Amino acid sequence: MPIPAPKVFWLLLAILGVIIHAYAEDYTIGVDYGQLGDNLPSTQEAIHLIQRMKAGRVKIYDTNPEILKALSHTGIKVSVMVKNEDIANVSSNQSFANKWVKNNVVYFYPATRINIILVGNEILSDYSNNQTWYQLVPAMLRIRRALLRYKLHHIKVGTPLAMDVLNTSFPPSSGIFRDDVAETVMKPMLEFLSRTRSYFFIDVYPYFAWSSDSNNISLEYANFGDHDKNYTDPNGLVYTNLLDQQLDAVIAAMSKLGYEDIRLVIAETGWPNAGDLNQLGANIFNAAHYNRRIIRRMLADPPLGTPRRPNQFIPTYIFSLFNENQKTGLGTERHWGLLYPNGSRLYEIDLTGELQDSEYKPLPPPPPPYKGKLWCVVDANANVSALPSAITYACSQGNNTCVAIQPGKPCYQPNTVIDHASYAFNSYWQQFKNSGGTCYFNGAATLVTKDPSSKICRYPFA
Ligand SMILES: *[C@@H]1O[C@H](CO)[C@@H](O)[C@H](O)[C@H]1NC(C)=O
Ligand SMILES: *[C@@H]1O[C@H](CO)[C@@H](O)[C@H](O)[C@H]1NC(C)=O
Ligand SMILES: *[C@@H]1O[C@H](CO)[C@@H](O)[C@H](O)[C@H]1NC(C)=O
Ligand SMILES: *[C@@H]1O[C@H](CO)[C@@H](O)[C@H](O)[C@H]1NC(C)=O
Ligand SMILES: *[C@@H]1O[C@H](CO)[C@@H](O)[C@H](O)[C@H]1NC(C)=O
Ligand SMILES: *[C@@H]1O[C@H](CO)[C@@H](O)[C@H](O)[C@H]1NC(C)=O
Ligand SMILES: *[C@@H]1O[C@H](CO)[C@@H](O)[C@H](O)[C@H]1NC(C)=O
Ligand SMILES: *[C@@H]1O[C@H](CO)[C@@H](O)[C@H](O)[C@H]1NC(C)=O
Ligand SMILES: *[C@@H]1O[C@H](CO)[C@@H](O)[C@H](O)[C@H]1NC(C)=O
Repeated sequence: MPIPAPKVFWLLLAILGVIIHAYAEDYTIGVDYGQLGDNLPSTQEAIHLIQRMKAGRVKIYDTNPEILKALSHTGIKVSVMVKNEDIANVSSNQSFANKWVKNNVVYFYPATRINIILVGNEILSDYSNNQTWYQLVPAMLRIRRALLRYKLHHIKVGTPLAMDVLNTSFPPSSGIFRDDVAETVMKPMLEFLSRTRSYFFIDVYPYFAWSSDSNNISLEYANFGDHDKNYTDPNGLVYTNLLDQQLDAVIAAMSKLGYEDIRLVIAETGWPNAGDLNQLGANIFNAAHYNRRIIRRMLADPPLGTPRRPNQFIPTYIFSLFNENQKTGLGTERHWGLLYPNGSRLYEIDLTGELQDSEYKPLPPPPPPYKGKLWCVVDANANVSALPSAITYACSQGNNTCVAIQPGKPCYQPNTVIDHASYAFNSYWQQFKNSGGTCYFNGAATLVTKDPSSKICRYPFA
C-alpha cells in the first residue's frame, strides 16, 4: 500500500529534523573541571553545580569513571583526556588504544555524551619529555582507529596546545609554529585534524599576554572592555581585543603549513580571581568582566568569529570550575575558579550569555595594585612537618642562601624550624623571583608586606 502523500511529507520533515539536529551547532559554553584540590566537593555535587550553572559542555583531564558515570543522562557534552603518561603506549600499541577506548569511552557511551577525546595536555610545552612529541600524532591516529572499530566515528580526536606552540604571535598575520615542531609534529597533526574534520584545540589566555606586557596593552583590550585604540594588522585586519589577535595568530600559523580551514576550539581560557600580592590584575573584578564578556561574545548570534575568520562559532571552555588549592606555581594558579571549593560563586556569572554587564549586581572594586616591597615567609597554616625538607631544598639553591642561619650567624637565633624556614624561603625567593622562582613551597610559604627582619637578623631583599 503506498504511503499517502501528506504522511510522506511529515516523514521527510522528521528525517530532515533528525539530520539538522545531528549537525546543528550546539551554542553552549563549556567548563574545565580540574580536580587538583583537596577540598573539592564530591563528584555528584560538582556535576549538580555544573548543571545549575547551565554549562553545556565539560572537559575533564582524565577519564575518571565516577565523573563519567555522574555525567550520564545529563545531556552535557563531555571531553575526556588520554593522560600524558599513556601516550607512549597508545602510540605504539593498537590493542592498548582499543582497550583504552573500550574501557573509557564505549563503556559510558552514549548515556554519557562523550564527544571529544583529547590526547595529552599541552604536550608540546613540555621540553623535558620531548620524545613524547613524536608519539602524539601516532597516538591520535590509533585512538581514531579504535573509535572507528567501535563505530564511534563522530567522536572527535584532538590535543590541546598552549600558545607557546607558536614562535611568533604578533602581528597576528605573522603567526607561525615553532621550528622544532612545525614540520615534524604540526604538519602531520593538521593533516589528521583536517582529514577527520576535527578541531585545533588551543589554550589561550589574554591574561598572560597582558600581564607580561601591561605597559603596552590596555586592560580593556585584554578583557573586552571599552578602549580607545584598535590594532590594525599589516594585512589590514582590525582587532578590537587581544583574544582575537591570539586566535588569528594560530590560524595564520596553520595557514602557513597549508591548512587554512581547520576550526578552533578554545580548550581553556579564563582570568584569575586572585593571586600573589605582586601579581597585577588578578582579582574578582577583572575575572568577572573577562569571563562574562567572553561568554557573551562566544554565544553571539550570529557568531562573531575573528577578523580573519568571521561568523564562525568557536566552542569555548572556561578554566576552571573550581579554585584548585593543590596547583603549584604562582598564586594565580590556584585562583582560576568560577566557584569556591564549597560550591558558592566567586561572582555572578551567566553561562548562557544572556545577562549584560549592567544587569549583574555591582562587583567589589578591584584592590589597588601592590607596588611595595615583599618578603617570602612561612605561612601561618603551613604544615610544620613538611618544613625541614623545604628548608633543605631552598638552601640547596642559589648563592649563600642559608649562611645566615648557620650556628653563630646572625639569624641562627631563634633556632626554630619556622624561623629558619622563613629565612630560607625568603633568601631563595629574593634570588629567584625574577627568573620564575615562586614563593610557594607546597603551600608552606606566603608573601608579606612587612619586613620580617629583626635588629640582628636582616632578611635579604633584592
Ligand atoms: C606501557 O607499556 C610498558 C611497556 O610495554 C609497560 O611497562 C607499562 O606498564 C605500560 N603502561 C601502562 C599504563 O599500561
Ligand atoms: C599492548 O597492549 C595490550 C593491551 O593493554 C597488552 O596486553 C600488550 O601486552 C601490549 N603489547 C606490548 C608489546 O606492550
Ligand atoms: C629533545 O631534548 C633533547 C635533550 O634535552 C635535545 O638534545 C633535543 O635537541 C631535543 N629535540 C628537540 C626537537 O627539541
Ligand atoms: C623562531 O623564528 C626565528 C626566525 O625564523 C628562528 O631563528 C628561531 O629559531 C625560531 N625559534 C623557534 C623556537 O622556533
Ligand atoms: C607594543 O608592542 C608592540 C609589539 O611588540 C611594539 O611594536 C610596540 O612598539 C609596543 N609599544 C610600546 C608603547 O611599547
Ligand atoms: C574599533 O573597531 C570597532 C569595530 O570595527 C569599532 O566599532 C570601534 O569604533 C573601533 N574603536 C576605535 C577606538 O577606533
Ligand atoms: C564559601 O567559601 C568562601 C571562601 O572561603 C566564603 O567566602 C563563603 O562565605 C563560603 N560560602 C558558604 C556558603 O559557606
Ligand atoms: C605534613 O607533611 C608531612 C611530611 O611531608 C606529611 O607526611 C603529612 O601528610 C602532611 N600533613 C598534612 C595534613 O598535609
Ligand atoms: C650566583 O653567583 C654567580 C657568580 O657570581 C652568578 O653568576 C649567579 O647568577 C648567582 N646565582 C644566583 C641565583 O643569584
